[in-house]
Amino acid sequence: MNAPGASREEIAREVARLGPWFHNIDLLGVPTAPSHFLGDYPSLKWRNFERALPADLTGKSVLDIGCNGGFYSIEMKKRRAKRVVGIDHDDQYLDQARFAARVLDFDIEFRKLSVYKLADLRERFDLVLFMGVFYHLRHPLLALDLIYEHVAGDLLVFQSLQRGSAEVDRVEQDYPFTERDVFDQPGFPRMHFIEDRYSNDPTNWWFPNLACSEALLRSAGFRILDHPEDEVFICKRGQRPDWCGADKIVDVQLDRSGDHR
Ligand SMILES: C[S@@+](CC[C@H](N)C(=O)[O-])C[C@H]1O[C@@H](n2cnc3c(N)ncnc32)[C@H](O)[C@@H]1O
Repeated sequence: MNAPGASREEIAREVARLGPWFHNIDLLGVPTAPSHFLGDYPSLKWRNFERALPADLTGKSVLDIGCNGGFYSIEMKKRRAKRVVGIDHDDQYLDQARFAARVLDFDIEFRKLSVYKLADLRERFDLVLFMGVFYHLRHPLLALDLIYEHVAGDLLVFQSLQRGSAEVDRVEQDYPFTERDVFDQPGFPRMHFIEDRYSNDPTNWWFPNLACSEALLRSAGFRILDHPEDEVFICKRGQRPDWCGADKIVDVQLDRSGDHR
């Protein structure tokens, strides 16, 4: 369908053909996912943290990892980012994102690419969005390491579904072999492994608690600048702690069979 100049009826027909949508985007009066189980999503989420990001992205480049229907890529373009690249491994979502951007007349590059193949981009971005993807990965820490290693230029927006305690204990640099109690403390970094399904979704693999999200980001080399919302962290690429230097990263490129059951 030729989107520019399309009528409301034509847009609605194409939205229905490309569905179901996860992102609810207003396409010139046509909502793409009006019955989303989380309400007007992700607008509701975005409103909670949008103030924590630069209002003007003029001249900046943005990478949106796991872009889905393109909601955040479009928001970055609305803030006048010079270049926005959205990647996802799902063709249906990419088709939705391309259509949404065409209707709203935003120049965004959408590419089919797994987070495990970020090295193929051969480019660093001023702002990287890594939202709602971490817990869908079987190898989430590898993905964070690859982001640090290959695409993060300055800022990272990280969001993960979190479960468990919201307490955060101070993490010691070392523990004696005899230490056991600390592992039962609610504020100790902890990842919950989902062997089968959560919310009827077999692609949910790992849910960190709050302390774990923070620890993972630090360990991957990101300094947390802001935590504007329960699950969202605004980070800056910093120094990776020397005990997890790049030479310790397993240099593997996983194919899609590793992501989904
Ligand atoms: C829950 S949605 C989050 C979408 C969006 N980033 C947001 O925060 O609203 C997860 C997205 O990540 C994509 N995804 C999952 N695993 C991926 C992978 N290995 N590489 C690239 N994208 C992936 C899915 O296709 C889906 O579009």
